[in-house]
Amino acid sequence: MSENSHEFEAHDFFRSDRFVDDPYAYFDYLREQSPVVREPHQGIFMVTGYDEALDIYNSPDRFSSCMSTTGPFAGCPIPLEGRENDDISELIEQYRDQTPFSDQLPTLDPPVHTDHRALLMRLITPVRLKQNEEYMWSQADQQIDTFIANGECELMGDFAQPFAVLAVSDLLGVPPDDRIKFRKKLIRQEQERGGAGVGGVENKEVEHSPLEWLYETFSAYIADRRNNPTEDVLSGLAAATFPDGSVPDPLDVARIASNLFAAGQETTVRLLSYAFQMVGERQDIQQRLREDRSLIPNFVEECLRFEGPVKGDFRLAKMPTQVGGVDIPAGSFLYIANSAANRDSRQFDNPGEFQVDRENARLHVAFGRGRHACPGAPLARAEAVISLNRMFDRTSDIRISEKVHGPPDARRYSYLPTFILRGLTHLNLEFNPVAAGGAQ
Ligand code: HEM
Repeated sequence: MSENSHEFEAHDFFRSDRFVDDPYAYFDYLREQSPVVREPHQGIFMVTGYDEALDIYNSPDRFSSCMSTTGPFAGCPIPLEGRENDDISELIEQYRDQTPFSDQLPTLDPPVHTDHRALLMRLITPVRLKQNEEYMWSQADQQIDTFIANGECELMGDFAQPFAVLAVSDLLGVPPDDRIKFRKKLIRQEQERGGAGVGGVENKEVEHSPLEWLYETFSAYIADRRNNPTEDVLSGLAAATFPDGSVPDPLDVARIASNLFAAGQETTVRLLSYAFQMVGERQDIQQRLREDRSLIPNFVEECLRFEGPVKGDFRLAKMPTQVGGVDIPAGSFLYIANSAANRDSRQFDNPGEFQVDRENARLHVAFGRGRHACPGAPLARAEAVISLNRMFDRTSDIRISEKVHGPPDARRYSYLPTFILRGLTHLNLEFNPVAAGGAQ
């Protein structure tokens, strides 16, 4: 047993602050015991191995997503006691409506998930993504205009939050005049919840209300466009059908649209913050990226591998099964630690080292895998690549603010206190602006 092991064992990963600043040493400690190991405080199976994570992601027949964002921590209505040796698939269905966020895509299982996911994929088409990317290039510039002259910014509030809301608003065709309302409403709600985001629920009463406003707004858009179709994107959403050709209820479409905000906002903001933290901390890397912009996409992949915004998500075993040779009783919760799988040395050489040109960086599981794999991944990637490029165009250097985060040998960063998300609470940067047209 290592020096730290008693200390690690003494703390409950899901309830203690002990692992908020650095979850990685704990994940390594767990993986050294076994890539699948039951932690003693909550009885949750911690999955820290890459192959084992893929096995679970690719087996929806054995593992339900019904409480994928909360695990047992927002209450588990399903009576699981004494069912360790049974197939509990039907039991889950009986109680599904009572589970947290039961109306949202990440918690659905096939066959309902298959239909709703297909509806979503009709909204995120390659053509739509391409148009959305064009919007993002100009939007990034406009957002940078709001703070560039100051020579400093708080990246989340000044740039990432508004940029991410506007990017999804454009994807879904929210009319330009309504976008300011979306920005105010959604960012205010994020801040009220302490920035934890919908996926960051822990040990608190689950709050449905942030989504209600989105449900109402999108239901109204869909109803209106069904009556008065135009050429806009919302009319396309209003006309989208399930794979069998049936017309969804406006609320079903509204839920899908709302999922994109709920799942895409906080995650992307954290990716942007980590990418800029790395750029500010590692001037050598910043220089390389400025000199060779073609390295930026792989840099973003390595950011996702090294500090992915989704620390982990849950599955519930539907039957007695095995993962990585470890017996898993039916009704067990498993925590797939994406951040740990991404640092499994069986998959990534020197996993604790950040390598801009790591060849297999893109094999990370930061976006999950399988049927629930993140449909917003192309959007998140584009947001990061565009933001970095535009900030490089508009500045000659980017530095971490010593006023806020302290000197290089004594930095102060604070991280979101959730077991779902990994990310900074704020990131203050300083930079030298360059005159328009002065760079690249
Ligand atoms: C860096 C940013 C992002 C990360 C790290 C991320 C991560 C993930 C992960 C790990 C999952 C799978 C959850 C599971 O299997 O239980 C997921 C699902 C999802 N993500 Fe993302 N995501 C990001 C950005 C986005 C964006 C920008 C959008 C929308 C525009 C989005 C929409 C969704 C939706 C709707 C799902 C549920 C899909 C389903 O259940 O079929 N995400 N995301």
